[in-house]
Amino acid sequence: MNIIEFNNVDFSYVSEDENEKEIRIPVLKNLNLNIEKGSFTAILGHNGSGKSTIAKLTNGILVPDKGSVVVEGMSTSDEDKIFDIRAKVGMVFQNPDNQIVSSIVEEDVAFGCENLGIPPEECRKRVDDALETVGMSEFALKSPSKLSGGQKQRVAVAGIIAMKPDCIVLDEPTAMLDPSGRREVIQTIMRLNKEEGITIVLITHYMDEAVKADRVIIFDGGEIKLDGTPKQVFAESDKVKALGLDIPQSTQLVEMMKKDGFSCDDVILDAGECADYLENMLRS
Ligand SMILES: Nc1ncnc2c1ncn2[C@@H]1O[C@H](COP(=O)(O)OP(=O)(O)OP(=O)(O)O)[C@@H](O)[C@H]1O
Ligand SMILES: [Mg+2]
Repeated sequence: MNIIEFNNVDFSYVSEDENEKEIRIPVLKNLNLNIEKGSFTAILGHNGSGKSTIAKLTNGILVPDKGSVVVEGMSTSDEDKIFDIRAKVGMVFQNPDNQIVSSIVEEDVAFGCENLGIPPEECRKRVDDALETVGMSEFALKSPSKLSGGQKQRVAVAGIIAMKPDCIVLDEPTAMLDPSGRREVIQTIMRLNKEEGITIVLITHYMDEAVKADRVIIFDGGEIKLDGTPKQVFAESDKVKALGLDIPQSTQLVEMMKKDGFSCDDVILDAGECADYLENMLRS
């Protein structure tokens, strides 16, 4: 079952040239894309390939010029449904500082929940649960300005979880974080997917994050160029590189070994698989 469906979507930004004449910047043309309920999808693509535009189309921040985006049967172009759609699809952006609205962590997490008109006792419970889920309970009464980037992003994620969404779309949530902050955020996202069944759409530039997804989609010029499991996509390493992206380091290492005559039937995606491969090879 799909939670989000893009049906023949066209989208252009409308801007003005130096003579204040209206110009259209086409980004998506006839895009068809389904996101299955409960799945974890990673979206990759070089700068300007249309990833953030797609993210904003999923919950009606932007609406298609043509075609439709449908969330659990509701069209994002239907203004009466936009409130329900935003409650189903939560969005986390790149810069944690831009997402913080309060000077106390727990108030910040409660903000979206309160806006949905949830009664205070229920909000209280949801905020406590959400902070626990992201491992930030001990910071509930702290000021967000005292937190690390990774901690701030986990607070942003908690604010979304407190609204009990079915899906969370994250647009490069780790781009401004250090390695440990990135790990914290990705582990939290994976737990939400595996344990709470929340559908995840993760836009990222990091291949080590993408390989953790069930499905990887690579965009270029607003079109889907590769779409499959991480192993299927990174098996096409030449195509991935031609689209201006890296391949995971472990994948690259084993590819280099293959060029030197070593054999490997599998596509190696991470350090664990790489270690197993090397161990087997040394034993045989
Ligand atoms: N508000 C806007 N007005 C005009 N053009 C825009 C606007 N936002 C994005 N664009 C253009 O639309 C295209 C797609 O942009 P988008 O932000 O979706 O790409 P992206 O894949 O998210 O890029 P990045 O990796 O840099 O975040 C780009 O050519 C961009 O310049
Ligand atoms: Mg972007």
